[in-house]
Amino acid sequence: MSNLRFDDLRQHSDLLRSKSGEAIIVRFVEPRDADSIQNYFRGLSSNSRYNRFFGAMSQLSPALLERFIHVGEADQFSVVATMEVDGYETIVGEARYVYDFTTSSFEFGLSIDDRWQGHGIGQALMKNLECRAAAFGATKLFGDTLRSNAAMLGLAKKSGYVFGNSPGDWKLVRFAKQINLAPQDIPCASWKLAALSRNVSPAAIAG
Ligand SMILES: CC(C)(COP(=O)(O)OP(=O)(O)OC[C@H]1O[C@@H](n2cnc3c(N)ncnc32)[C@H](O)[C@@H]1OP(=O)(O)O)[C@@H](O)C(=O)NCCC(=O)NCCS
Repeated sequence: MSNLRFDDLRQHSDLLRSKSGEAIIVRFVEPRDADSIQNYFRGLSSNSRYNRFFGAMSQLSPALLERFIHVGEADQFSVVATMEVDGYETIVGEARYVYDFTTSSFEFGLSIDDRWQGHGIGQALMKNLECRAAAFGATKLFGDTLRSNAAMLGLAKKSGYVFGNSPGDWKLVRFAKQINLAPQDIPCASWKLAALSRNVSPAAIAG
C-alpha cells in the first residue's frame, strides 16, 4: 500500500497513550515547529543527543533543521510526539523515518525527552512507526543504534526486533522487524488513509 497523500499533514496525526495513560499526539513536523524542535534537541541531555546522532552535537545544523521541517522531501519524514504541559503543547519526543520504495523497507531513528523517558512513550511511538511503515507498504522496519545504547537495545528487544550488524560501522547494531500486521491491530491515521484510497472496506480498517 503506497497511495499515501501528504497534502494535508494533519490528517496523519495519531493519539497515543503513555504507560500511565497520558495523551500523546504524534503529528508531522511543520515549518512553524523550527524553533521548538531546535529547543527540544538543545534540551536533551548530551548523552541522549549522542545516542540519537551517534556523535557529539549540541543542536541541529541549519541543513538538518531544514530537512526536519520539510516533511516528505526525498521520502523523508519527521514526526513529533507532543503532550499538553501547563496548557502548552510540548514536544516530548521525535522520530524521523525514510521509506525506500525499491526495497520496501522503512528506516527510522527516534528520541524521547530525558524528563519523559521510562514512561512508555518510546514503545508507543515505535508501535506507531510500525503502522506508518505499513501504510507505505513496507515489509521491513529497521534502525541502527550504538552498541552501548542499552535503553534502545532494551526497547527494540521488547518490541520484537532482531539484531544484526550494521553494514559499514562496527560501533552500530542494526535492529530489524518484518511487518506482518493485521489491519485491526493498526490504529494509525496513515494506514487508514492509505486503505481508504485503495477502497479497502471500512470494517477491515476499524481500530
Ligand atoms: C531509547 C529511548 C527512545 C527509549 O524511550 P523510552 O520512552 O524511555 O522507553 P519506554 O519507556 O517506552 O521503555 C520501553 C521498554 O524499553 C526498555 N528500556 C527503556 N529504557 C531502558 C533502559 N534504560 N535500559 C534497558 N531497557 C530499557 C524496557 O524494556 C522498557 O520496558 P519497561 O518499562 O516495561 O521495562 C530513549 O531512552 C531515548 O530517547 N534515548 C536517547 C536517544 C536514543 O538513544 N535514540 C535511539 C537512537 S535510534
